Amino acid sequence: MTRRLLVTAALPYANGPIHIGHLVEYLQTDIWVRFQKLRGNRCLYICADDTHGTAIMIRARGEGRSEIELIEETSEAHQRDFAGFGIEFDHYGSTNSEENRTLCHQIWQSLRDANLVVQRSVEQLYDPEAETFLADRFVRGTCPKCGTPDQAGDNCNCGHTYSPTELIDPVSTLSGATPVIKEAEHLFVELEKLHDFLSEWVSNSGALQPETANYLKGHFLAEELRDWDISRPAPYFGFEIPDAPGNYWYVWFDAPIGYIASTQQWCNANGEDLADWWKSDDCEVHHFIGKDITYFHTLFWPGMLKTAGFSLPTKVHIHGFLNVNGKKMSKSDGTFVKAETFLKHIDPSALRYFYATKLSSRVEDLDLGVEEFVEKVNSDLVGKVVNLASRVGKFASRTGLAPSYPDDGGLFQAAAAKGDEIAAAYEEGEFSKAMRLIMELADAANPFVEHAKPWEMNKDPERQDELRDVCTVALNLFRQLAVYLAPVLPELANKCGDLLGEPITSWEQSQTPLVDRGVNKFQRMMDRVKTEDLEAMMEESKDEAAQETDAAATNPFNDSDQPLKDEPLADEITIDDFMKVDLRVARVLSAEHVPEANKLLKLTLGLGGDETRQVFAGIKAAYDPEKLVGRLVVMVANLKPRKMRFGLSEGMVTAAGPGGEEVFVLGIDDGALPGQRVH
Ligand code: 2FM
Ligand code: ZN
Repeated sequence: MTRRLLVTAALPYANGPIHIGHLVEYLQTDIWVRFQKLRGNRCLYICADDTHGTAIMIRARGEGRSEIELIEETSEAHQRDFAGFGIEFDHYGSTNSEENRTLCHQIWQSLRDANLVVQRSVEQLYDPEAETFLADRFVRGTCPKCGTPDQAGDNCNCGHTYSPTELIDPVSTLSGATPVIKEAEHLFVELEKLHDFLSEWVSNSGALQPETANYLKGHFLAEELRDWDISRPAPYFGFEIPDAPGNYWYVWFDAPIGYIASTQQWCNANGEDLADWWKSDDCEVHHFIGKDITYFHTLFWPGMLKTAGFSLPTKVHIHGFLNVNGKKMSKSDGTFVKAETFLKHIDPSALRYFYATKLSSRVEDLDLGVEEFVEKVNSDLVGKVVNLASRVGKFASRTGLAPSYPDDGGLFQAAAAKGDEIAAAYEEGEFSKAMRLIMELADAANPFVEHAKPWEMNKDPERQDELRDVCTVALNLFRQLAVYLAPVLPELANKCGDLLGEPITSWEQSQTPLVDRGVNKFQRMMDRVKTEDLEAMMEESKDEAAQETDAAATNPFNDSDQPLKDEPLADEITIDDFMKVDLRVARVLSAEHVPEANKLLKLTLGLGGDETRQVFAGIKAAYDPEKLVGRLVVMVANLKPRKMRFGLSEGMVTAAGPGGEEVFVLGIDDGALPGQRVH
C-alpha cells in the first residue's frame, strides 16, 4: 500500500554556512526520502532556514545591515550548498514567513486555551551598551565556585554549573561592558501539566529509538518537568507575541512550527490541504535531527503538537555527531570543511556513499577517516560497481542487449531476491547494512565479467553473440546495483538510465532485467577520489579559518565596510585646513520642536558663561528634545551664521549617520567643559 510521509531535517540556523557536519543529517534524510519515493510512497522532504534569535540580530547589527538582508543571503547560500550535494527538498522555506507567524499565533492560542501559559518575573543580565538582554553564551566571567577567570556564562571548566547572574565580574562578549541584572516579565509553558501524556508517548508510541526513550525516562521524566521560558523581551529578532507586546517568542518556539509552515507553503503552491499532511492518521511524520536537540523534539514539540491538535511524530530519527580522523571537527586542523569548499575538490557522490556506509539507526557518532574514505569510495564504487559497466560499456554500445536474458548462473535472480532485505535496511535507517548487502552483490557479480573476458571476445568476430550476452548480464547486474544504490547515488542512477535508455524511477526495476534494446554511448560514471584532493580541501579549509581569525583579530567587532563604501574618504587636507574649523564643546541648554519644519530641532547651545548660540539641527526623527537637554555635544562654532525661515542658525551640531532616524550626535567623555576647543 502506498504510504504518505512528511519528512523533515532540522532547520539550519541562518547565521552560518553549511559544513560537512551538517551534511550528515541532510544526506541521511535525503537518502531516506529518495528511498521512499523509489518505493512508490508519497513523500515530502520539507526544510527551511531557522532565522530568528539573538545571534542573528547581533550578527546583522555587527555587519551594519538588516536581519532580512542577512537571512535572505544565507538562505540562497544554504540552498546552493544543498543542491550541490544532490539534496532535493520538496520545499525550502524560512521561519520568518507569514505562514509561520500565523501558525505560531494559532498554536500559542491553543497553549493559552489549555491554560498552559504563566507569567513570571526573571532576573537576567542586560548589556547597557548593546542595549540587549544577554543569553548565557554572550556572558563570560569568574567562576563563583573555584574563582577561575574568563569562564562561560553557564558553566566553568571545573564542572560547576551556575546562572550567569552568579558570575563574578561578568563581562558582555557583545560590547565588553559590565552587564547589569535587570528584571523582566517572561512567559512560561507549564510542561509538567503534560507529564503523563509525554511519559506515555515516550514509552509506548514507538516514535523514539530505545536509547532515546530510556534517556528521557531516566533524566527528565523521572522528575517534575521544568517550565519552559518561551518569551524574550525586546530587542529580539523574531515574532512579537500578540498578547504580550514588547515580548517575542523564543526562537525554539517558532523554529519547529516552521516545519508546518514550510509544508503550508508547499501546499499553497500545489493546491493541497495542510490537514492531509499534519492532521491525518494516514500521514506519517518523520523528523531527522542530531542528538543535541533531542529535548526540544521529544518533549516540547510533541507537547505543542498534542495541545494544538496536530499529528505527533511517527518517528524522531536521531543521529550522532561527525568526527574527522577520530577527532572533533577542527578549524585549525582543516577538518571543519564547508560544503562549498568540499564541492571545489571532491565529487559529492563520494560523501553521500561514505556517510551511507557509516549510518545506522542508533544514536552513534560517526567518523570520517580520510584514508578510509579514499579506500572505500575507490574500492567499492569505482572498483566494484562502476567497474561492471565500464568493462563492457563500449562493447555494449555496439552489440546492444540480447533478445532474452542469458544464463548468468543465477546471479540476477539471487540479487533480486535480496531486494527485500536491502529495502528493510533502508527503511530502518540501517544504511550501513544496506551498503554492505549491495557490495556483496557487486562482489558476486564482478567475477562473472572477469571469467568471461569480454575484451577477448571483442577481438573475435566469431564470438559477438557471446559478447552481447556478457554485456547483457554485466549491464543488468550493474543496473540492479544502480537501482539499489539510487537513494544514495542519484547521479549514478541517472547515468545508468541514460546508458540503457530507461530512467531509474522505481525499486521494482531491480527485479526484471532489460533485454532486446540498444545501448547508448558509454560515458564515464565516476572518477577515483585522490588523497591529494582531500589534502587540498583541508588546506583550503585551514586557510579559510585563518583568514576568518585574521579578520576577527583586525576587527573583532565585525564592523561592516558599508558606511565607508557609501561615502569614501575625502581628499587630503593640511592641519591648517583642519584648524580653520573651530570645533567646540557645547552644552544643550534647551531643545524644542520647530512646528513648521519636519526634520529640525531648535537648540540653544551654551559655550560656558553667558555665551550661547542658536542652532537648527536636522535630528528631529532621531532625538526627543527633552532627552538632549543637559548633554554635551561638539559644535562647529565658527560657521557663518545662516538666516533660515525660522530664525538665525549660528553653527552646526556634529553628528554621524545617513539621516532620518539614523543620526548619531557626537558626544564627549565626562570631564570636558563647554567652550573647550576640539583638536
Ligand atoms: O540546532 C539547530 O541548528 C536549530 N536551528 C534546529 C532547529 S530544528 C527545528 F526545530 F526547527
Ligand atoms: Zn570553576
